[in-house]
Amino acid sequence: MPSRTPYLAANWKMNKTVAEASDFVDTLLPRIAATQSDVVICPPFLALSEVVERSRGSAVTVAAQNMHEAGSGAYTGEISAAMLLEADVDAVILGHSERRQFFGETDEALSRKVPAALAAGLEPILCVGETEEARDADQTAAVLTGQIGADLAGVDHAADLERIVIAYEPIWAIGTGRTATPEQAQETIAFIRDLLRTLGAGADAVRILYGGSVKPGNAAELLSQPDIDGALVGGAALDPEDFAAIVEAAG
Ligand code: PGA
Repeated sequence: MPSRTPYLAANWKMNKTVAEASDFVDTLLPRIAATQSDVVICPPFLALSEVVERSRGSAVTVAAQNMHEAGSGAYTGEISAAMLLEADVDAVILGHSERRQFFGETDEALSRKVPAALAAGLEPILCVGETEEARDADQTAAVLTGQIGADLAGVDHAADLERIVIAYEPIWAIGTGRTATPEQAQETIAFIRDLLRTLGAGADAVRILYGGSVKPGNAAELLSQPDIDGALVGGAALDPEDFAAIVEAAG
Protein backbone atom coordinates (compact mmCIF):
# COMPACT_ATOMS: atom_id res chain seq x y z
CA MET A 1 0.00 0.00 0.00
CA PRO A 2 1.46 3.42 -0.89
CA SER A 3 2.39 5.60 2.06
CA ARG A 4 0.45 8.83 2.07
CA THR A 5 2.08 12.09 3.19
CA PRO A 6 -0.12 13.84 5.79
CA TYR A 7 -1.97 16.84 4.36
CA LEU A 8 -3.06 19.73 6.58
CA ALA A 9 -5.05 22.50 4.98
CA ALA A 10 -6.13 25.83 6.48
CA ASN A 11 -9.40 27.02 4.94
CA TRP A 12 -9.68 30.66 5.90
CA LYS A 13 -13.04 31.11 4.17
CA MET A 14 -13.91 34.86 4.01
CA ASN A 15 -11.40 35.85 6.66
CA LYS A 16 -8.11 37.79 6.70
CA THR A 17 -7.00 40.87 4.82
CA VAL A 18 -3.68 40.80 3.00
CA ALA A 19 -1.94 42.32 6.04
CA GLU A 20 -3.48 39.70 8.35
CA ALA A 21 -2.53 36.91 5.95
CA SER A 22 1.03 38.13 5.92
CA ASP A 23 1.24 38.18 9.74
CA PHE A 24 -0.19 34.67 9.90
CA VAL A 25 2.44 33.25 7.53
CA ASP A 26 5.28 34.99 9.37
CA THR A 27 4.15 33.43 12.67
CA LEU A 28 3.38 30.00 11.22
CA LEU A 29 6.53 29.28 9.21
CA PRO A 30 9.06 29.07 12.06
CA ARG A 31 6.61 26.91 14.04
CA ILE A 32 6.35 24.29 11.27
CA ALA A 33 9.91 24.41 9.95
CA ALA A 34 10.50 20.74 10.79
CA THR A 35 7.31 19.29 9.38
CA GLN A 36 7.37 16.45 6.86
CA SER A 37 3.70 16.98 6.04
CA ASP A 38 2.10 18.87 3.18
CA VAL A 39 0.81 22.14 4.63
CA VAL A 40 -1.66 24.10 2.53
CA ILE A 41 -3.10 27.54 3.13
CA CYS A 42 -6.36 28.48 1.38
CA PRO A 43 -6.76 32.26 1.61
CA PRO A 44 -9.37 34.48 -0.04
CA PHE A 45 -8.44 35.36 -3.64
CA LEU A 46 -6.93 38.76 -2.82
CA ALA A 47 -4.47 37.29 -0.32
CA LEU A 48 -3.31 34.39 -2.54
CA SER A 49 -0.28 36.19 -4.00
CA GLU A 50 0.85 37.47 -0.62
CA VAL A 51 0.75 33.98 0.90
CA VAL A 52 2.51 32.49 -2.15
CA GLU A 53 5.32 35.05 -1.95
CA ARG A 54 5.75 34.90 1.82
CA SER A 55 5.80 31.12 1.99
CA ARG A 56 8.28 30.47 -0.85
CA GLY A 57 10.95 27.96 0.17
CA SER A 58 8.80 26.53 2.99
CA ALA A 59 6.59 23.45 3.34
CA VAL A 60 3.55 25.61 2.62
CA THR A 61 1.72 25.49 -0.68
CA VAL A 62 -1.33 27.56 -1.52
CA ALA A 63 -4.85 26.72 -2.60
CA ALA A 64 -7.77 28.87 -3.76
CA GLN A 65 -11.24 28.30 -2.32
CA ASN A 66 -13.10 28.09 -5.64
CA MET A 67 -12.58 28.28 -9.40
CA HIS A 68 -14.74 28.52 -12.52
CA GLU A 69 -14.40 25.72 -15.04
CA ALA A 70 -14.27 27.93 -18.13
CA GLY A 71 -10.99 29.29 -19.43
CA SER A 72 -12.37 32.83 -19.63
CA GLY A 73 -15.59 34.61 -20.48
CA ALA A 74 -18.62 36.50 -19.26
CA TYR A 75 -18.78 35.09 -15.71
CA THR A 76 -18.88 38.13 -13.47
CA GLY A 77 -17.22 37.58 -10.12
CA GLU A 78 -15.48 34.34 -11.09
CA ILE A 79 -11.81 33.29 -11.29
CA SER A 80 -10.22 30.92 -13.84
CA ALA A 81 -7.54 28.27 -13.50
CA ALA A 82 -5.15 30.37 -15.60
CA MET A 83 -5.49 33.27 -13.16
CA LEU A 84 -4.66 30.96 -10.25
CA LEU A 85 -1.68 29.48 -12.08
CA GLU A 86 -0.31 32.93 -12.87
CA ALA A 87 -0.35 33.62 -9.12
CA ASP A 88 1.59 30.34 -8.55
CA VAL A 89 -1.32 28.72 -6.76
CA ASP A 90 -1.00 24.93 -6.50
CA ALA A 91 -4.44 23.67 -5.59
CA VAL A 92 -8.10 24.60 -5.34
CA ILE A 93 -10.91 23.66 -2.96
CA LEU A 94 -13.95 22.55 -4.96
CA GLY A 95 -17.44 21.78 -3.73
CA HIS A 96 -17.10 23.09 -0.19
CA SER A 97 -20.46 22.63 1.55
CA GLU A 98 -20.76 26.40 2.03
CA ARG A 99 -20.51 26.86 -1.73
CA ARG A 100 -23.05 24.09 -2.27
CA GLN A 101 -25.39 25.53 0.38
CA PHE A 102 -25.11 29.30 -0.12
CA PHE A 103 -23.99 29.68 -3.73
CA GLY A 104 -25.82 26.89 -5.52
CA GLU A 105 -22.74 24.82 -6.41
CA THR A 106 -24.03 21.60 -7.96
CA ASP A 107 -22.53 18.18 -8.56
CA GLU A 108 -23.08 18.88 -12.24
CA ALA A 109 -20.85 21.97 -12.10
CA LEU A 110 -18.29 20.02 -10.09
CA SER A 111 -18.22 17.33 -12.76
CA ARG A 112 -16.74 20.04 -15.00
CA LYS A 113 -14.66 21.89 -12.40
CA VAL A 114 -12.67 18.89 -11.17
CA PRO A 115 -11.40 17.88 -14.64
CA ALA A 116 -10.77 21.56 -15.50
CA ALA A 117 -8.56 21.94 -12.41
CA LEU A 118 -6.68 18.73 -13.24
CA ALA A 119 -6.20 19.75 -16.86
CA ALA A 120 -4.69 23.05 -15.68
CA GLY A 121 -2.30 21.27 -13.32
CA LEU A 122 -4.09 22.35 -10.14
CA GLU A 123 -4.67 19.82 -7.37
CA PRO A 124 -8.41 19.64 -6.64
CA ILE A 125 -9.40 19.36 -2.97
CA LEU A 126 -12.89 18.00 -3.47
CA CYS A 127 -15.22 18.39 -0.48
CA VAL A 128 -18.03 15.95 0.18
CA GLY A 129 -20.24 15.32 3.18
CA GLU A 130 -23.73 14.61 4.39
CA THR A 131 -26.26 16.73 6.29
CA GLU A 132 -27.42 15.83 9.77
CA GLU A 133 -30.79 14.69 8.38
CA ALA A 134 -29.05 12.38 5.91
CA ARG A 135 -26.90 10.85 8.67
CA ASP A 136 -29.91 10.38 10.94
CA ALA A 137 -31.77 8.69 8.07
CA ASP A 138 -28.81 6.33 7.40
CA GLN A 139 -28.26 8.00 4.04
CA THR A 140 -24.58 8.90 4.52
CA ALA A 141 -23.29 6.20 2.16
CA ALA A 142 -25.88 7.07 -0.48
CA VAL A 143 -25.08 10.79 -0.33
CA LEU A 144 -21.34 10.23 -0.58
CA THR A 145 -21.72 7.70 -3.38
CA GLY A 146 -23.85 10.21 -5.31
CA GLN A 147 -21.49 13.14 -4.74
CA ILE A 148 -18.28 11.28 -5.55
CA GLY A 149 -19.74 9.47 -8.54
CA ALA A 150 -21.05 12.72 -10.04
CA ASP A 151 -18.17 15.02 -9.10
CA LEU A 152 -15.54 12.64 -10.52
CA ALA A 153 -17.57 11.60 -13.57
CA GLY A 154 -15.45 13.67 -15.94
CA VAL A 155 -12.11 12.53 -14.52
CA ASP A 156 -9.86 9.99 -16.23
CA HIS A 157 -9.86 7.66 -13.22
CA ALA A 158 -6.95 5.51 -14.37
CA ALA A 159 -4.65 8.46 -14.96
CA ASP A 160 -5.77 11.12 -12.52
CA LEU A 161 -7.50 9.66 -9.46
CA GLU A 162 -4.41 9.87 -7.28
CA ARG A 163 -3.93 13.57 -8.10
CA ILE A 164 -7.16 14.41 -6.26
CA VAL A 165 -7.45 15.16 -2.55
CA ILE A 166 -10.83 14.43 -0.98
CA ALA A 167 -12.07 16.23 2.13
CA TYR A 168 -14.84 14.45 4.00
CA GLU A 169 -16.69 17.17 5.87
CA PRO A 170 -19.95 16.16 7.54
CA ILE A 171 -22.03 19.33 7.32
CA TRP A 172 -23.28 18.90 10.88
CA ALA A 173 -19.69 19.16 12.13
CA ILE A 174 -18.61 22.32 10.26
CA GLY A 175 -18.24 25.36 12.48
CA THR A 176 -20.54 23.79 15.04
CA GLY A 177 -17.98 22.59 17.56
CA ARG A 178 -19.54 19.15 17.07
CA THR A 179 -16.76 16.93 15.70
CA ALA A 180 -17.36 13.50 14.25
CA THR A 181 -15.87 10.92 16.60
CA PRO A 182 -12.59 9.45 15.33
CA GLU A 183 -14.48 6.17 14.80
CA GLN A 184 -17.24 7.85 12.76
CA ALA A 185 -14.71 9.76 10.67
CA GLN A 186 -12.55 6.65 10.12
CA GLU A 187 -15.52 4.50 9.20
CA THR A 188 -16.85 7.03 6.69
CA ILE A 189 -13.45 7.77 5.17
CA ALA A 190 -12.74 4.03 4.82
CA PHE A 191 -16.07 3.82 3.00
CA ILE A 192 -14.96 6.64 0.67
CA ARG A 193 -11.67 4.83 0.00
CA ASP A 194 -13.55 1.64 -0.88
CA LEU A 195 -15.70 3.70 -3.22
CA LEU A 196 -12.58 5.13 -4.89
CA ARG A 197 -11.20 1.60 -5.27
CA THR A 198 -14.15 0.79 -7.48
CA LEU A 199 -13.14 3.71 -9.72
CA GLY A 200 -9.41 3.27 -10.15
CA ALA A 201 -6.16 1.73 -9.05
CA GLY A 202 -4.89 5.00 -7.60
CA ALA A 203 -7.40 4.92 -4.71
CA ASP A 204 -4.83 3.89 -2.11
CA ALA A 205 -2.68 6.90 -2.97
CA VAL A 206 -5.51 9.43 -2.60
CA ARG A 207 -5.23 11.63 0.48
CA ILE A 208 -8.60 11.72 2.23
CA LEU A 209 -8.95 14.45 4.83
CA TYR A 210 -11.42 14.92 7.64
CA GLY A 211 -12.93 18.38 8.15
CA GLY A 212 -15.36 19.71 10.72
CA SER A 213 -14.37 21.37 14.00
CA VAL A 214 -10.79 20.04 13.97
CA LYS A 215 -8.85 21.67 16.82
CA PRO A 216 -5.49 21.20 18.53
CA GLY A 217 -7.26 19.13 21.20
CA ASN A 218 -8.82 16.55 18.87
CA ALA A 219 -6.42 16.52 15.90
CA ALA A 220 -4.02 13.81 17.06
CA GLU A 221 -6.75 11.26 17.66
CA LEU A 222 -8.44 11.96 14.33
CA LEU A 223 -5.15 11.91 12.43
CA SER A 224 -4.06 8.62 14.01
CA GLN A 225 -6.90 6.75 12.25
CA PRO A 226 -5.59 4.55 9.44
CA ASP A 227 -7.60 6.09 6.59
CA ILE A 228 -7.55 9.73 7.74
CA ASP A 229 -4.64 11.33 5.92
CA GLY A 230 -5.05 14.89 7.08
CA ALA A 231 -7.46 17.66 7.94
CA LEU A 232 -9.23 20.59 6.32
CA VAL A 233 -9.40 23.11 9.14
CA GLY A 234 -11.61 26.19 9.26
CA GLY A 235 -12.02 28.08 12.55
CA ALA A 236 -8.90 26.73 14.25
CA ALA A 237 -6.80 27.59 11.19
CA LEU A 238 -7.34 31.32 11.70
CA ASP A 239 -4.84 31.27 14.56
CA PRO A 240 -1.29 30.37 13.48
CA GLU A 241 -0.48 28.79 16.86
CA ASP A 242 -3.55 26.55 16.74
CA PHE A 243 -2.90 25.56 13.13
CA ALA A 244 0.77 24.87 13.93
CA ALA A 245 -0.36 22.61 16.78
CA ILE A 246 -2.60 20.72 14.35
CA VAL A 247 0.30 20.35 11.89
CA GLU A 248 2.45 19.03 14.76
CA ALA A 249 -0.28 16.55 15.70
CA ALA A 250 0.18 14.88 12.30
CA GLY A 251 3.70 13.91 13.42
P1 PGA B 1 -14.41 24.25 10.79
O1 PGA B 1 -14.52 24.33 9.18
O2 PGA B 1 -13.05 23.66 11.10
O3 PGA B 1 -14.55 25.65 11.25
O4 PGA B 1 -15.51 23.34 11.25
C1 PGA B 1 -14.02 23.31 8.36
C2 PGA B 1 -14.32 23.61 6.91
O5 PGA B 1 -15.41 24.12 6.63
O6 PGA B 1 -13.49 23.37 6.00
